Amino acid sequence: MKLFADTANLKEIESLLQKGVVQGITTNPSLLAKEPKADFYQHIQDICDLCLRYKLDIPVSVEVFATDPDKMITQAEEIIQRIEYGNVNIKIPVGFEELRVISQLRTKGIRVNCTCCFTSAQLQLAALSGARYVSLFYNRLIDIGGDPSKCLRQVRKFIDDNSLDCEIIAGSIRNPYDLEKSWENGCHIVTAS
Ligand code: E4P
Repeated sequence: MKLFADTANLKEIESLLQKGVVQGITTNPSLLAKEPKADFYQHIQDICDLCLRYKLDIPVSVEVFATDPDKMITQAEEIIQRIEYGNVNIKIPVGFEELRVISQLRTKGIRVNCTCCFTSAQLQLAALSGARYVSLFYNRLIDIGGDPSKCLRQVRKFIDDNSLDCEIIAGSIRNPYDLEKSWENGCHIVTAS
């Protein structure tokens, strides 16, 4: 069971790193948009530099904003090239064509966090295509009448049965009880604001 921070706020990140309580960082375009206007690459580099300052080599997830699959690959490569940090993971929103993106990035040695998943099938297919992390939108699934606990149990069993090198992240976390429930149901990582 691991705890990631779901934020792009530099002060929050530094405060968490100082306390040693965070094992990874996840960002997304909406979180970045909440921060003072800055160059995208510079902001991500600032987050990674904080990790380096605290001598931590923790995964930092950065989402592509391209929507065309081929452009996602180009953008992912550009992020990896431009950010000076060895543990950047590229967030790819789940989709049928995006499975090819994940597979190709995996072949290029780029770690992917497949995000915006709502169903067991999405998480399982993304894990099979080579995603290093698969992210379930826990509370957004509850909002539409789904059962994230059942989904987590099914996907954890699938990953274990197939010995896949993939961890499940529960995102869209709104209260401490969500963390407990996620971990109880086999989730590897919870990312919380
Ligand atoms: C996860 O990685 C996402 O960034 C995040 O948790 C999205 O959830 P929310 O927009 O419902 O908070």
